[in-house]
Amino acid sequence: MLKICHHPLIEVKLSIMRDAKTKSKEFRESLDEIGSLMTYEVFKDLEVVESKEKMLLPTGVLLNKKKLVNKIVVVPILRAGLGMVDGVKNMIPTAKVGHIGLERDEVTLKPREYYFKLPEVENPLILIVDPMLATGGSAVAAISAVKQRGFTNIRLMCLVGVPQGVEAVQNAHPDVDIYLATMDEKLNDKGYILPGLGDAGDRIFGTK
Ligand code: PRP
Ligand code: URA
Repeated sequence: MLKICHHPLIEVKLSIMRDAKTKSKEFRESLDEIGSLMTYEVFKDLEVVESKEKMLLPTGVLLNKKKLVNKIVVVPILRAGLGMVDGVKNMIPTAKVGHIGLERDEVTLKPREYYFKLPEVENPLILIVDPMLATGGSAVAAISAVKQRGFTNIRLMCLVGVPQGVEAVQNAHPDVDIYLATMDEKLNDKGYILPGLGDAGDRIFGTK
């Protein structure tokens, strides 16, 4: 399943991020905010139950607290994926965070895993996050890495995608739902998304 999260607030914040004049601070803040807005959509179908814990309301009524059934683990693809973690955590403070580090092997040009760590959570719902879904190579490799460790309940949340990247993920992992803020047009000859927003990692961390 592919879901494009259409929302006027997302559209306006994304156009701020696309602007080459936008500085790293505002770029990161906009990414946080879009991450939170998208989290609302990504987890719309989650089940909520009453916990055993009681709470006293200001009106004197006693009620059971409510909680999510699923235990959420957010997994950013390093580096740029880190920029989407706070947006999710602001909405789901109980979510735990894992990390996947991928880099392009200069010989094979395929993504190579250099770091992998997930928190110990039983039966988690894993949300892999990365702002850019370009060729899809990184997302496909990240999902494979998570599946190799035995996890099956996985969703992918990216900001900007292109049809090529979406197709690559859908072909390799048809069971993984993909959420985007926008579907852009195409890749350029360097594998960058057009119109896109440039190098997300560099703009988040101010490395260029
Ligand atoms: C970017 C982006 C994705 C990847 C997308 O990371 O954050 O991880 O490229 O491209 P793909 O779909 O073609 O794999 P990059 O390799 O620039 O590393 P960075 O996050 O460290 O900047
Ligand atoms: N990675 C980026 O950071 N930007 C793109 O447009 C494509 C891959």
